[in-house]
Amino acid sequence: MSLAIRPPFKLASRVHKNVGQAFDGGLVVLISIIGAGRVGSVSAFNILRMRIADVTLVDVQEGLAEGEALDLIQSSPAIEFDGKINGTTKISDIEGSELVILAAGVARKPGMSRSELLERNGSIVSTLVDEIVRYAPACKIMMVTNPVDVMTYLAYSKSGFERNRVFGMGGILDTLRYRSYIALELNVSREDIRALVIGEHGDQMIPLVDYTTIAGIPVRKLLDEAAINRIVERTRTSGSDVISLKGGTVYAPAAVIAVMAEAILRGRNRVLAAPVVPNGEYGLKHLAIGLPIILGKDGVEKIIELPLDDATQSHLMESAKVIYSGIEKLGLASGSP
Ligand code: NAI
Repeated sequence: MSLAIRPPFKLASRVHKNVGQAFDGGLVVLISIIGAGRVGSVSAFNILRMRIADVTLVDVQEGLAEGEALDLIQSSPAIEFDGKINGTTKISDIEGSELVILAAGVARKPGMSRSELLERNGSIVSTLVDEIVRYAPACKIMMVTNPVDVMTYLAYSKSGFERNRVFGMGGILDTLRYRSYIALELNVSREDIRALVIGEHGDQMIPLVDYTTIAGIPVRKLLDEAAINRIVERTRTSGSDVISLKGGTVYAPAAVIAVMAEAILRGRNRVLAAPVVPNGEYGLKHLAIGLPIILGKDGVEKIIELPLDDATQSHLMESAKVIYSGIEKLGLASGSP
């Protein structure tokens, strides 16, 4: 018996043809991950554990993706995954993907900002987006490579895809960190903290304190302003804190990449924050920036427009300016935010 999961919606693309290295069954739907480094490979493992789709891992480094795929195949009896797992250097193997997760490129070193990666990763992403359009023209693209807001806009501009099909992973990760620190402060379950972090996935991120609740209880009823400010500050530096200790962030990004993939492949309409391309929402255009969205089978189903107080709205504009300067550096500017 195969574990075939047939999604309750029409597939955008043809059933993929990859034979892969597993048996000739498969879950019908394919997710490709380009970049089989730390984040790409652990994301693949999470996607398999959640039995969301078959997975193809692609990496330029000879043997790396194949090795990761082999290791994953050997884990699959324990995690009860019967789908296909393919590791390859051939980008054409992404053919038929419903979702392509782009996690290829250079990662931050201790002390580096995300924007320092701009030009190097810009050129890698630019080439890869051309290949994605060529081999998986009906897919959705989830950008992971940093600086993720600028790279998401680059992928949107280069691909010519509709804006619902190109988004990044950023705000949901910042939210996870923010939730973890609130839970720690209150000594309650992390699951019960509900929140959104919008804006740049970087120093200019904006945890929305007004929209933060603990099982529906506004956070300000349980924490004073000083404690909230401390948590907000800790959230801002949380990525760099991990990088300075272990050289890179892996488990948290890889966990939310799988959550986002599941939202799309199972059409779950999850409400979360992610870098997306606004067309006038929040007074923003010509960039990608973290905003609250509904993520479902068509990708970005909707950008949720929330009323923001003046200070938060002007912080969002400051955040947009930082992203916009990156977009300008890549020669992609087509207006002001
Ligand atoms: P890594 O260095 O472990 O892996 C990157 C992989 O990309 C390497 O295996 C490399 O061979 C591959 N690669 C480079 N050029 C390629 C190409 N043209 N085609 C295919 N593969 C290619 O890095 P890690 O830690 O996995 O991070 C990957 C990216 O994700 C970085 O840019 C990092 O900054 C970003 N990142 C973003 C996060 C977010 O919240 N959006 C969180 C964590 C990482």
